[in-house]
Amino acid sequence: MKIAVFNGTEKKGVTYRLKEIFLEKFRDKAEITEFYFPRDCPGFCMGCITCFGKGEKLCKDAQYVQKIEEALLGSDLLVFTSPAYVFHATGAMKAMLDHLGYRWMPHRPAGEMFGKRAVVITQCLGAGGTSAAKDIRDSLSWWGVSSIRTISFRLMSDVKWDNIPEKKRRAMEAKLRRNADRMLAVDYSRRAHTKLSTKAKFYAVRMMQTELGKQNPEYTDYRYWKEKGWLGKIRPWKQ
Ligand SMILES: Cc1cc2nc3c(=O)[nH]c(=O)nc-3n(C[C@H](O)[C@H](O)[C@H](O)COP(=O)(O)O)c2cc1C
Repeated sequence: MKIAVFNGTEKKGVTYRLKEIFLEKFRDKAEITEFYFPRDCPGFCMGCITCFGKGEKLCKDAQYVQKIEEALLGSDLLVFTSPAYVFHATGAMKAMLDHLGYRWMPHRPAGEMFGKRAVVITQCLGAGGTSAAKDIRDSLSWWGVSSIRTISFRLMSDVKWDNIPEKKRRAMEAKLRRNADRMLAVDYSRRAHTKLSTKAKFYAVRMMQTELGKQNPEYTDYRYWKEKGWLGKIRPWKQ
């Protein structure tokens, strides 16, 4: 199996340790590709909207974004990690997610994403881990991913791994290993189930694209939806 890991920090701190513990059981079973931000996607989206209108390959940061996209589409399991920074995912993670706005369902979602599984690992000192995870989940669900497992921690002690009390560390390790076992038991040859809420988003956008196409049949996103057959009978979760 293939796993792609997207880390919202380059620091080898608590988030890194948690991610390493989660991945332990996959190391001899999976091919793992890791991205660290901002290193692997250093530019910000400048709002030029070239990706939406003319195509993602023309983005000034395409050399980074296309590598990320390739890993997203080619992996069985997607792992996202981030500490909470002022109640949200890190700016580096958000900068990467902005670059993939063209893959949101109202634009040009990749059919492959509807069958993917994802795990989001976040941690915070006291509060903000859940909202940091939501920042990532929002993109995942609008990309079409239905199966998203969130593992979130509140350190409530110190932000340095070695200073966290042994009992607390053991509890976090156990929770990560339990979740890793659940993800290891999955049959990755089968697509993940697509939830009703994902299908509802798809049908709402389908109506929108049909209307947009009446106004301008050359509209990039409309043409994409039409070529995929999604304005007809084809559905991405059945392909
Ligand atoms: C800029 C910044 C903002 C932070 N904001 C929060 C926050 O809003 N809530 C919180 O509980 N912890 C906050 N933290 C603590 C982090 O979430 C995290 O626990 C800490 O940085 C350790 O993780 P790391 O070693 O992976 O960097 C913040 C840390 C930084 C550097």
